[in-house]
Amino acid sequence: MPSATPSTRSSDRSCEAVTLQNRDSGDSSVPLLEVEDLQVEFHTRAGVLKAVDGVSFSVDHRETLAVLGESGSGKSVTAQTIMGILDMPPAVIAGGAVRYRGTDLLGLSPPERRAIRGQKISMIFQDALSALNPVFSVGWQIAEMFRVHRGMSRREAKKRAIELMERVHIPAAAKRVDDFPHQFSGGMRQRIMIAMAIALDPEVLIADEPTTALDVTVQAQIMELLAELQEESGMGLILITHDLGVVADIADRTAVMYAGRVMEQAGVFDAYAAPAHPYTKGLLESIPRLDQKGGDLFSIPGTPPDLLHRPSGCAFRPRCRFRTDECLTEDPPLHDIGGGRGSACHHYQEVLDDAER
Ligand SMILES: Nc1ncnc2c1ncn2[C@@H]1O[C@H](COP(=O)(O)OP(=O)(O)OP(=O)(O)O)[C@@H](O)[C@H]1O
Ligand code: SF4
Ligand SMILES: [Mg+2]
Repeated sequence: MPSATPSTRSSDRSCEAVTLQNRDSGDSSVPLLEVEDLQVEFHTRAGVLKAVDGVSFSVDHRETLAVLGESGSGKSVTAQTIMGILDMPPAVIAGGAVRYRGTDLLGLSPPERRAIRGQKISMIFQDALSALNPVFSVGWQIAEMFRVHRGMSRREAKKRAIELMERVHIPAAAKRVDDFPHQFSGGMRQRIMIAMAIALDPEVLIADEPTTALDVTVQAQIMELLAELQEESGMGLILITHDLGVVADIADRTAVMYAGRVMEQAGVFDAYAAPAHPYTKGLLESIPRLDQKGGDLFSIPGTPPDLLHRPSGCAFRPRCRFRTDECLTEDPPLHDIGGGRGSACHHYQEVLDDAER
């Protein structure tokens, strides 16, 4: 498997190059998808909002990256920038690169982008459940992908639509192909959205909160389906979520975002066993545990900063129990902490050593 994300902080800050290795890196070929020092702003009447502020990560074939973080941390803006659908005002891509097989997509022409979007890199959008058109049958909507992009006849495209519905385990697909979206449950509609996202055999699939609106059992089934499809196709998977608990079983690595930046990058197992950033630690403490009986669930005190008025120093400081005076003035870079991990915390060693959970 190809290796490594050269992961750096914004170029205008003191920066420490961090090389984060994949689990089973072997050769040094180019990553399948690599985001490097990405900066995306919204130029609003109230001022410039830095929604993504120096984000770096990568994903390879057969690899699953969980992009984790609370609401407003910049997860969807990052994904939309990768897809090339956020390139007009008020959004401004202020810097960085999004490389697919080594080519920076940010420098491509609109037709070149279209050739990649949906075909090589595909996405299940955050509001996917409402994205199906209520006036067309699901089969028609799936078949449309094959007619538009593969030039298939109606008959051939419908046959492929049924095959795809079977592939995402929709029972009695041949009978249900002419049903309308409202005739399916939320979980089945999400399977249809997944079918459309994988229709053209993408190499990278981005799933933005694919299970948020679903109940817990269905969430697990959807995750299982994504893992199965990845196993079959070998695609790289980026799973965006608030909840590491939901993706822990299928993710290899995680990039934990806060206020538009990556706070920690690590293998999922390492992050679980010993988080190296107070924010990751807080997120893990917020996951309900089977051995925890009664009592209120922990939640990180406070709220994320207003990105129009970013505080000085570390953006997590007002909510952090490890903070010191240094955190007020010094914005922490993403330190290379060894073992393929990175932490944007001045006191990561203390956090690693802290046994309290
Ligand atoms: N079109 C827009 N105009 C102005 N600000 C925007 C726009 N879209 C997003 N933002 C801001 O960018 C920041 C990042 O938003 P984003 O949607 O990426 O968050 P997120 O991490 O996906 O959150 P959630 O978990 O709620 O989906 C937020 O502060 C948001 O308000
Ligand atoms: S740099 Fe300081 S405030 Fe920020 S997370 Fe680390 S200890 Fe907390
Ligand atoms: Mg989002």
